[in-house]
Amino acid sequence: MTTGPFAGQAPGKLILCGEHAVVEGHAAIAAALPRFTTVTLLERPGPTSLSSDLRDERLLPALLTVVPRSGLEIEVHSELPVGCGLGSSAALAIATLRALAAREGREASFAELYERGFLIERAFHGNPSGVDHAVSALGGLVRYRRTDSGPEITPLHIVEPLTLVVVNTGTPAFTTAQMVERVRLRGSSRELAAIGALVSEITEVLTTGGDQHRLGALLDQNHCWLQRIGVSTPELDRACAILRSAGSLGAKLAGAGGGGVAFGLCTPGSAPGVHAEATAAGLAAFTVIIR
Ligand code: MEV
Repeated sequence: MTTGPFAGQAPGKLILCGEHAVVEGHAAIAAALPRFTTVTLLERPGPTSLSSDLRDERLLPALLTVVPRSGLEIEVHSELPVGCGLGSSAALAIATLRALAAREGREASFAELYERGFLIERAFHGNPSGVDHAVSALGGLVRYRRTDSGPEITPLHIVEPLTLVVVNTGTPAFTTAQMVERVRLRGSSRELAAIGALVSEITEVLTTGGDQHRLGALLDQNHCWLQRIGVSTPELDRACAILRSAGSLGAKLAGAGGGGVAFGLCTPGSAPGVHAEATAAGLAAFTVIIR
């Protein structure tokens, strides 16, 4: 009999546009990031236990929504910081489900990853839209919308690759669930609808090879609406200002906000300079190309 270890891997994500609005049924666009979480399952007698380089007390209870309560040791290694908007919980969910399927000698389908991924994501985030774990499971660049009759998930084939410099302003003081609840209590439906309209314009620019300057301006507008619904912070605004003055065509926060990451849209030529200036300003930065 095979006893393992059984491994699964999944990428983090970056929301290009539409965060928060996606919770209210508008579309968002997100990209899988080339940064991964790996989950390894080892057969062990006794209660299921966890050894992880992610520090988060929600981890084991969340994983036990899908992993048997006894007989396993779960090892988690992640290249993604927790709670910074890079989809660490979604990558954990999908990697775990892939490892469980490997233990059963099969590959998990997208439908299974999407449905069961929600169990883990809900344990972390309350009522998430599902965009994070959908893009982690599917990879690439995805337009996502939640409707009453199920999700609309469209892989986007973009004409021009996107060069993004991503910076991290640090761990937010609030969880994603708390940020989503703050937006709900504020009653921001007009602002969320405006973000939804921007996502339609951004989809068109991406899929028709439109002007990257226009794309940058649309991303700036998305950031303004996120400021208005109260999810940006002085640190995120400062990070976006640094990215823009260093040569980005546009910049915005990404994810739930309250801290965490922002990114600047760059040309391939401007990205090294933007990266260097962000680092010189004390921001942890990395450059990613989305195709
Ligand atoms: C979090 O990555 C994105 C939010 O839109 C929440 C969600 O979609 O569930 C803020």
